[in-house]
Amino acid sequence: MKGEMNSNLLKRIPIDFDGSSYEISLGRGIIGETGAMLAQKTKNRQVLVLYDAFLEKTIQSKLVSGLKAAGFEVFEHALPGGKINKNINEALKIFGVLESNDFSRDSTLIAVGGGVVGDLGGFVASTYLRGINLVQVPTTLMAMLDSSIGGKVAVNFRKTINAIGNYYHPVMNIIDLDFVTTLPFRDYKAGLAEAIKCAIISDRGFFDYLRDNTGQVMARSDEHLLNVLSRSIGIKVDHVKGDVKEGGKRLKLNYGHTLGHAIEISTENGQGETFRHGEGVAIGIMAAAYIARAYLKQAEDIYLAQNDILKSYELPVLVESARIGFDRAELIEECLKNVNKDKKRKDNRIRLVLSQAIGQSSVYPDVPFALIQEAFDHIIKE
Ligand SMILES: NC(=O)c1ccc[n+]([C@@H]2O[C@H](COP(=O)([O-])OP(=O)(O)OC[C@H]3O[C@@H](n4cnc5c(N)ncnc54)[C@H](O)[C@@H]3O)[C@@H](O)[C@H]2O)c1
Repeated sequence: MKGEMNSNLLKRIPIDFDGSSYEISLGRGIIGETGAMLAQKTKNRQVLVLYDAFLEKTIQSKLVSGLKAAGFEVFEHALPGGKINKNINEALKIFGVLESNDFSRDSTLIAVGGGVVGDLGGFVASTYLRGINLVQVPTTLMAMLDSSIGGKVAVNFRKTINAIGNYYHPVMNIIDLDFVTTLPFRDYKAGLAEAIKCAIISDRGFFDYLRDNTGQVMARSDEHLLNVLSRSIGIKVDHVKGDVKEGGKRLKLNYGHTLGHAIEISTENGQGETFRHGEGVAIGIMAAAYIARAYLKQAEDIYLAQNDILKSYELPVLVESARIGFDRAELIEECLKNVNKDKKRKDNRIRLVLSQAIGQSSVYPDVPFALIQEAFDHIIKE
């Protein structure tokens, strides 16, 4: 396979994270090639395809048939969509499938879905027999440009996001643009929130491009999709390289996440999530922008530029508590409780990533908690 270029393959991105090297293959209609590509990587022919239940048909017609044609014995396990299922009980079910079918150390788990399936499948692959091969096939924009890259794998536990997890890289990552076609507009926009975050923290040119091409980016043309993916993936890789375990530069990728996570988890209800991860990040970005404005004594324009770009991509910039069925005061209280639990806390102070200017950011280790309180008060409306 190496050296030759499948006509549907648009780009190959070589990755090397602390000695783990693999390739991201980006193309249209390439999922059927997964079997042939995997056959080059391992002699073992046992594979578990873990997939988002929504993708049943695509999995059968393209991925599974391709794997079988390449000589793999294929086991399948469907996971119902949504963050509520990124939990240890679902992980146990998958361990059960692997154990009862005698999966061995050099067998493979292919995770096909959004960030939920990728994080959960990656966690299982990283721990079963201390690690089996993992293939990431991200199917949401969020997973393509962010969660499938960088090796963070985890499940949520009670009210703590990614409480139980690991660092584990795949042996291949297949990004098939065909998946973007079926993605609901809401999920597409949620993925763009992470692209906008990448631009704010480190790339003014990318920010300007996103601001000036809203219509084309929203229309998902191949040209713009490839551009958004390549630039976001480039920024992600650049921040993870040399800092997989998040001691320095990688921390900046958490921009908007500390308060965003608290909002995401505090607004979950009996039915599941109120906000997509990317929507939580968008609101979290505006909370961070509010804090930066006060803490760094910034002029209004940096705050407004972030507000405007998020709004132009129809992303939420605040929480309307009554509309989503929450009492405002109680929700603020719950967010404060959950922000305290966030693992980015250090020595009981809140460490936050703030943007000094569009395209620039730093980690501030010691942001006063009163400002966090003020920020929730600002973005959570009646
Ligand atoms: N590991 C990391 O570095 C990292 C980074 C960012 C986010 N995350 C995690 O990612 C998760 C969110 O991921 P997500 O936003 O992809 O959510 P998701 O996996 O829940 O997918 C969103 C929705 O899209 C549906 N879907 C998936 N692919 C589809 C397709 N091709 N067509 C139509 N529908 C499709 C799913 O069924 C689901 O309803 C969160 O748990 C978050 O913590 C992890």
